[in-house]
Amino acid sequence: MSESNFESISTEKRIFNPSSAFSDSARVPSLEDYKTKHAETISDPESYWASVAGELEWFEPWTKIRDESGKPFLKWFVDGKTNITVNCIDRHIAAGQGNKAAIIWEGEPGESDARVLTYWDLYREVNRCANALKKLGLKKGDRAAIYLPMIPELAITTLACARLGIIHTVIFAGFSSNSIRDRIDDCGAKLVITADGGWRRGQILNLKSIVDEAIIDCDSVTDVIIVKRGHGDPFPCKVKEGRDKWYHRIIQDQPIHCEPEKMDSEDVLFLLYTSGTTGKPKGIIHTTGGYMTYAYDTTRNVFDIRPEDVYWCSADIGWITGHSYILYGPLLNQATVVMYEGAPNWPDSGRFWELIEKYRVTIFYTAPTAIRAFMKWGDEWPKQRDLSSLRLLGTVGEPINPEAWIWYHELIGNENCPIVDTWWQTETGGIMISPLPGATPTKPGSATLPLFGIEADVLNEEGNSVEAGLLAIKNTWPGIMRGIWGDEQRYRDTYWCKWDGQYYFPGDGARKDEDGYLWILGRVDDVVNVSGHRIGTAELESIFVGHSNVVEAAVIGSAHEIKGQCLVAFITLKAGVDASPEIIDQLNQLVIQDIGKFAVPERIIFAADLPKTRSGKIMRRLLRDIAEGRTMGNVTTLADPSVVEALKRRYAEN
Ligand code: WTA
Repeated sequence: MSESNFESISTEKRIFNPSSAFSDSARVPSLEDYKTKHAETISDPESYWASVAGELEWFEPWTKIRDESGKPFLKWFVDGKTNITVNCIDRHIAAGQGNKAAIIWEGEPGESDARVLTYWDLYREVNRCANALKKLGLKKGDRAAIYLPMIPELAITTLACARLGIIHTVIFAGFSSNSIRDRIDDCGAKLVITADGGWRRGQILNLKSIVDEAIIDCDSVTDVIIVKRGHGDPFPCKVKEGRDKWYHRIIQDQPIHCEPEKMDSEDVLFLLYTSGTTGKPKGIIHTTGGYMTYAYDTTRNVFDIRPEDVYWCSADIGWITGHSYILYGPLLNQATVVMYEGAPNWPDSGRFWELIEKYRVTIFYTAPTAIRAFMKWGDEWPKQRDLSSLRLLGTVGEPINPEAWIWYHELIGNENCPIVDTWWQTETGGIMISPLPGATPTKPGSATLPLFGIEADVLNEEGNSVEAGLLAIKNTWPGIMRGIWGDEQRYRDTYWCKWDGQYYFPGDGARKDEDGYLWILGRVDDVVNVSGHRIGTAELESIFVGHSNVVEAAVIGSAHEIKGQCLVAFITLKAGVDASPEIIDQLNQLVIQDIGKFAVPERIIFAADLPKTRSGKIMRRLLRDIAEGRTMGNVTTLADPSVVEALKRRYAEN
């Protein structure tokens, strides 16, 4: 979080009340209702969660609601048996809603006819795919990596895995082959599901060739499934005899019914890799019963979803937002979901507004970074379109600055739609802090109050409640992560290291105001949030020092007008090596190879020395001050204070 954004947030005083038209029909119609119910769910969480889970279908009931005896290893709905796909699909068909649209999909290259999948269609597709996976010999507990563009098969294959208890790990299609390899190696995936290509800004991304490169030496992978993206001939790609199969062929003759696996509540549903402070991305574990219950409950409370809503979340299923709020949460609630393959500014900057008008979207959920980009592209784009179908707006992924909030409220919401600023993380499984749209008066920039069953506070290191400090979550909730794949210690050290393990530590700073509203101030660790994507600075630093001419590297997050934060790398080259555009290019290429284009730093600054303490620690705080043009605090603890002046000059010259 940038200092300048922080200032605008902290001086923000405006309050927006939900309209009575919205509140009157909302699930939670007033702040009093919220407060009363929230207090009840805190004093008796077990009854609350039992009643929510009881609305879903279970093959066998749980014997105990939660078991914290092994904390921080947790169990919810102990001994319960269920399958999330039964709750996402079969349940709605049984309720007579099989012909309701589940997914309305539009592809990027202007396939102007949407592909609509009803709940029945989804049932058939998911089951045929599950039967095909079974035939390949895959079974419960195996891992499958899914590397697909935002096409319906991304939803279908993910759900097919869940039908059989195959643990899915979806990899965002912007990641490089090295990133894919790291993830496959870490979890030992047997299967990779990819496509011959995907569209992005008029270009075809050749996903299969990226996968081919990734798995050259991955012994665990026995099968690769290729989805044909286009209508005609496949995009050119290699097909390895024996290992690779075309999706349309293997599902062709499969029956449309597939028995769902009876999953224990605590059987792993999926892994999703995310960046942390140190080392490689970690595989966040989510299990079945608790995640399902939490995704279900938060979706209906935060988005106040009704049968007639057309809901669109513009994230990618490759991130947690897509898992919980494109796929599982909305489908658990029998929603109609819009899914779009492409970028917001292709073929023009009005693409999103065109889609909202075309499908009469009622609920729209996006990221602040996108909103800031829309502001820059100009008001004329949304103004050209009829956005009057919208009734609720949401944001996720990073703090929203009040200017962007107000623009969203006025230009997109026509001052008529509540805005839910939702704070949460890959690790929390679902939204934790957010307004309830019919109940909570909103303040631009504040995620406001915790959801039902969630107790949030702002603490100092000693564990005292303070006005500004570290965000802390007391107690646990069904959707919380169950660990890091293969790394118990890292799980304990990262999330339960503070306050004697009594609180979950998310790694964010926060402020609590006089109304108890929470204002999230951004990460307090070495994770940078670039356009809502988490990037670990340590990951980048280790990539840079892997270059033969680099001696030392320090990467920081610096305020950025559109992206929220951007990456700035300070690099010391070997003596005698000149800082040249070629080296910058090589360093950027290393990042593209190792992570992906989205992690390339905004700026690379070469410096003869980096500011260090006398004990040799790089003072990243000073680097941030330089990058954000702040006056420097005390530099007397530096081993060599002159380094800072030299760096400032370099920064200004660049
Ligand atoms: C940040 C994304 C402020 C935060 C769902 C968190 C936010 C990280 C908000 C998780 C918000 C997410 N306001 N900051 N509404 N939502 N964040 O795992 O720093 O990709 O720790 O999950 O994003 O990112 P992740």
